[in-house]
Amino acid sequence: MKKLTLDELVSLCKRRGIIFLTSEIYGGYAGFFDWGPVGVELRKNVVDSWWNYFVRFREDVYGLFGAIIMHPKVWEASGHVDRFIDWLVECKKCHARYKAEELIEEQGIEITDYSPQNLERIIREHNIRCPNCGGELSEPKKFNLMFETYVGSVKSEEAIAYMRPETAQGMFINFKIYSVYARNQLPFGIAQVGKVFRNEIAPRNFIFRCREFEIAEIEYFINPAEANECPYFSEVKNVTVKIWTKEMQKKEQEPKEMSIGEAYDEGVFSNMWHAYWVGESLKWLNKIGLSMENLRVREHLETELAHYSAQTFDIEYNFPFLGWKEIEGIANRTDYDLKRHAKFSGEKLYMVINGEKIIPHVIEPSWGVERVILALLTEAYSVKENRVVLKIPYELAPYKVGVYPLLKREPFIKKAREIFMQLKNDFEAFLDISGSIGKRYARADEIGVPFGITIDHQTLEDDTVTIRFRDTWEQIRVKTSELKETLNKYLNK
Ligand code: GAP
Repeated sequence: MKKLTLDELVSLCKRRGIIFLTSEIYGGYAGFFDWGPVGVELRKNVVDSWWNYFVRFREDVYGLFGAIIMHPKVWEASGHVDRFIDWLVECKKCHARYKAEELIEEQGIEITDYSPQNLERIIREHNIRCPNCGGELSEPKKFNLMFETYVGSVKSEEAIAYMRPETAQGMFINFKIYSVYARNQLPFGIAQVGKVFRNEIAPRNFIFRCREFEIAEIEYFINPAEANECPYFSEVKNVTVKIWTKEMQKKEQEPKEMSIGEAYDEGVFSNMWHAYWVGESLKWLNKIGLSMENLRVREHLETELAHYSAQTFDIEYNFPFLGWKEIEGIANRTDYDLKRHAKFSGEKLYMVINGEKIIPHVIEPSWGVERVILALLTEAYSVKENRVVLKIPYELAPYKVGVYPLLKREPFIKKAREIFMQLKNDFEAFLDISGSIGKRYARADEIGVPFGITIDHQTLEDDTVTIRFRDTWEQIRVKTSELKETLNKYLNK
């Protein structure tokens, strides 16, 4: 089967109102995207699925809708002002700027040490030059990814504030409020989803690397003395996936298929809660349609770890046009953030449980909405008889039902409108009257509508309609009085 290209996906997304580059009438604006009518619904369904799975239907995770701009001290305490950086190289001739690790990876070279010294060594040894003009590249320099803005009427140094590059800090600065809300018990989690901003040196690959995007994350606070006591572990221990530890990467071994239980027993994870959150994250990604064959878990090398993390696992997706790439990270942030905020704010950020002072440790699953949706669209994209069919899981499909009069005239239109009115309060439905019936089916397949209801000559005689299935193109005939019940059955409602 022919491999899907990124261009094909980008074209579908634009053609069908899913996602497109912003400000196109001004030539576009790199790294920023707009979501169209279909994309808005898809995004909402994916985020809702996550929120239901990890917040609404759990006993131990509470939601937060925090500010995007917080006190500037938050970012000093978190370490982002000093350490949220990429290594940038600049062409000495044309002054084009690049992210060093990306230039190297584009040459097919795998990096096993992300230090600036090693990045420079690889660039020199492989004679990597400016892709724009062939000029020599500078040594790697630090580049802070945070966007700055000014707050208040005076644009001075003191008025500088930052657009959040992660949602996590909103949960740490509210730790006291939430620990009371959680009735002073551990463990508990805080979840948040929202916009974040990163001034990426080279935004690229459509929505894979944006400058404005959404992150969904949970800060899960545990008692470090009980880090290996996870009462939910049986729910994930049989989840099986390819795991690539840092040792395997250093020895140039292939990833190994293991269950989360086996990997935990072999000491792969920093603790049982960490293993649990990797397992739960995989379960949800699989539930929304990503197959386990296309997912793998890769441990960060020491030189790659974020400044706050003791151990991080990426969940990577095998994009046909990019290879294996990170879509989610699960980090053990230890007590780093709470201690830093306690130091910078002077507040007491700990709990006293049974007379014992505890600074909780934090496991953080964190995924990017754009990247997961890119993976989802990739997995759903299929071609049948030269036509695109987007096989999104029914639960996530932006529209569930299309209603079509076979012919664009009365009394077919009147009957179609009647059926649409009958369905519209129970299903995300639309009525499509324009173009031939074949074109209408094709349009619906491209945005992943699972069912098409057609009003034909027989409908006018015996009040039956056909239901056409997106994935098989098969049709069945049902009485209009049984339509709602039949659709509910297929939707598992
Ligand atoms: N609080 C942890 C954190 O922010 P991260 O690995 O930097 O961790 C989390 O980001 C997730 O956000 C990543 O796994 C990825 O899915 C997504 N992500 C990161 N940078 C991105 C970008 N420039 N564009 C789109 N998504 C991005």
